[in-house]
Amino acid sequence: MLESNKHSLRYQQLCDEIENHNLRYYRDDSPVVSDHDYDRLMSDLLELEKLYPELITPNSPSQRVGSAPLDAFVQIQHKQAMLSLSNGFSEQDIQDFDARLRKQLDISDARILEYVAEPKLDGLAVSIMYQRGELLYAATRGDGKTGEDITQNVKTINGVPLRLSGDVPEVLEVRGEIFMPHAGFKALNASQRAAGKKVFVNPRNAAAGSLRQLDSRITARRPLDLFIYSLGAISDSKFSVSQFETLAKLGALGFPICPIHSLVEGAQGCLDYFADLSTMRDTLAYEIDGIVYKLNRLDWQQDAGFIAKAPRWAIAHKFPAQEKTAKVIAIEVQVGRTGAITPVARLEPVFVGGVTVSNVTLHNKSEIERLGIRVGDSVVVRRAGDVIPQIVSVDLRQRPDHSREFEFPGVCPECNSELVINDSGIVSYCSGGLACGAQLREGIKHFVSRKAMDIDGLGDKIVKALVDEKLISSVADLYALNYADVVGLEGFAEKSSKKLLENIDKSKAAVLPRLLFALGIPQVGETTAQQLADAFGSLDVIKDLRQEELENVPDIGPIVAQSIMQFFQDINNLEVIRQLIARGVNYPIIDVSIEKSGPLSNKVFVLTGSLESMTRAQAEQRLQDLGAKVTTSVSKKTDFVVAGSGAGSKAKKAAQLEIEILDETALLSLFDKA
Ligand code: IVH
Repeated sequence: MLESNKHSLRYQQLCDEIENHNLRYYRDDSPVVSDHDYDRLMSDLLELEKLYPELITPNSPSQRVGSAPLDAFVQIQHKQAMLSLSNGFSEQDIQDFDARLRKQLDISDARILEYVAEPKLDGLAVSIMYQRGELLYAATRGDGKTGEDITQNVKTINGVPLRLSGDVPEVLEVRGEIFMPHAGFKALNASQRAAGKKVFVNPRNAAAGSLRQLDSRITARRPLDLFIYSLGAISDSKFSVSQFETLAKLGALGFPICPIHSLVEGAQGCLDYFADLSTMRDTLAYEIDGIVYKLNRLDWQQDAGFIAKAPRWAIAHKFPAQEKTAKVIAIEVQVGRTGAITPVARLEPVFVGGVTVSNVTLHNKSEIERLGIRVGDSVVVRRAGDVIPQIVSVDLRQRPDHSREFEFPGVCPECNSELVINDSGIVSYCSGGLACGAQLREGIKHFVSRKAMDIDGLGDKIVKALVDEKLISSVADLYALNYADVVGLEGFAEKSSKKLLENIDKSKAAVLPRLLFALGIPQVGETTAQQLADAFGSLDVIKDLRQEELENVPDIGPIVAQSIMQFFQDINNLEVIRQLIARGVNYPIIDVSIEKSGPLSNKVFVLTGSLESMTRAQAEQRLQDLGAKVTTSVSKKTDFVVAGSGAGSKAKKAAQLEIEILDETALLSLFDKA
């Protein structure tokens, strides 16, 4: 045998052997070799890789120790959107969820729906793509459509299989949650504290901080773990017929699956599981914040479809919020980017619902009156899951003699301009506009934030310094900053100044939805910005739209439309946009013409049942590419219903409404003709 072949063979053997031990250790909890023997194998592998670097494969077990730092995370488009879940809080919410599904799926009273109940893990969602059994990439959820490439970091997590063996679909994307178990979290914080470094407030934040490392060698040292809970894109549409089977098959392929999931019957089965888990919650090795119930049959999941960003076939049943008592040290007001004045209660720090809370918004003047809250009071603070903390009530029994009522200011605490009250009579606004430093600072912080232009390095302090030094008076001025402006500001030496300017420069290549969101148009959040961009494709078009045109966009009603028009009528705003473009901010114009001119333009389709030659998602994509609209429920507006095998109530409804029904052959010939 050739010498080089011999090494390559030995290398492959070592890789397989080590991965096999990893599975035994991390998945099955039953190692078959001692730590010492395992370390020997690993050092043999590292030795070989050092001598023959050409042998190294992207999925070598050595990748688990991390690799050279990245400059930045690259964006990855998800093949299939990553959704969120709607929440339920009470037994009634779960009964309503079950009843809604039964009605929608036309299930007779005598039948009970099956669900898979799984813990809702409190970590971060991840999508991992395998091709021919090899881990290809891993991405964060991001906005659900586009996430960040965290492949190097995910490979360092021991529970993640780098290669799959056995009968694996060619394309297999799995979705799951990365988290930090309690024990690892405690140990990490202890060592952070000892090293004088930042401690994390809860396991979820620690997991997030560990995953967002550009240097995967740091991630490798963090005690992260994961469970896989569902499929993403898959080339084999017959992989499984139910959620329960999906979990079993993924487990058999080597993925770590949360062992306490359970197949339950009806709403009552869900609630019984919830009661059991509530008592076990504190004994689990990791944090969970509720239970997820998923309709078991996958074909029925498809029939149930989605609303906005969440499936109709699943719900997260959240554990009740936690409450604690805390003392109010002060009440202060903050000025937001729109000038809105928000009173905030400063509290003696309390640990509630997994985080330390020391500031709680009081929303507005009438909320202060409703609560009757005074400085010095003891208040009940509530926090549930990822919801912002709130003050529920004042404990009057504990009111001290020296408690003080809060006097709402008449002028802006930042710029002394007069406060005005909005139309609804509830919110006060600073009338100073951009002359108010606070509004300007908040506008800039929003502009550079992660979901907007995503410019790293512009924290609160530097933004304040830039505004105070009059180096910027609008977001467009960020793009006129130079080295001399920045260097020497607090915390900015040569390297960090250059990096900041680089980050600003990089953000010039924006995408339209982000830019629109970044502009801070009142009432325009991320979703509306995305919808505006999808519908109109360029700022030039959007700025001249009329009310009716805006209201044609899903989710935009008269109030939002008004607000958008007002924003683009303001000459200051137009000037800022002009300067942004003149200084190089540049986004690819979205071609929205395809939708209007496709051969199936304006035709509304509903897909039901399963297709033989493609998945429903593929059919949907194909139809959309041809200009059609695909919706989930049959109504008078529907033009065609495509009925695959096992089609149920939707086909029936189509027949009642005399809507044309296409079978798969008819659909394929439609594609051929188009
Ligand atoms: S299923 C469409 N299952 O909860 C299905 N999600 O609020 C969406 N999560 O982004 C996800 N444990 O990060 C699912 N057993 C579980 C989960 C789970 C935690 C997270 C996940 C998701 C979020 C949705």
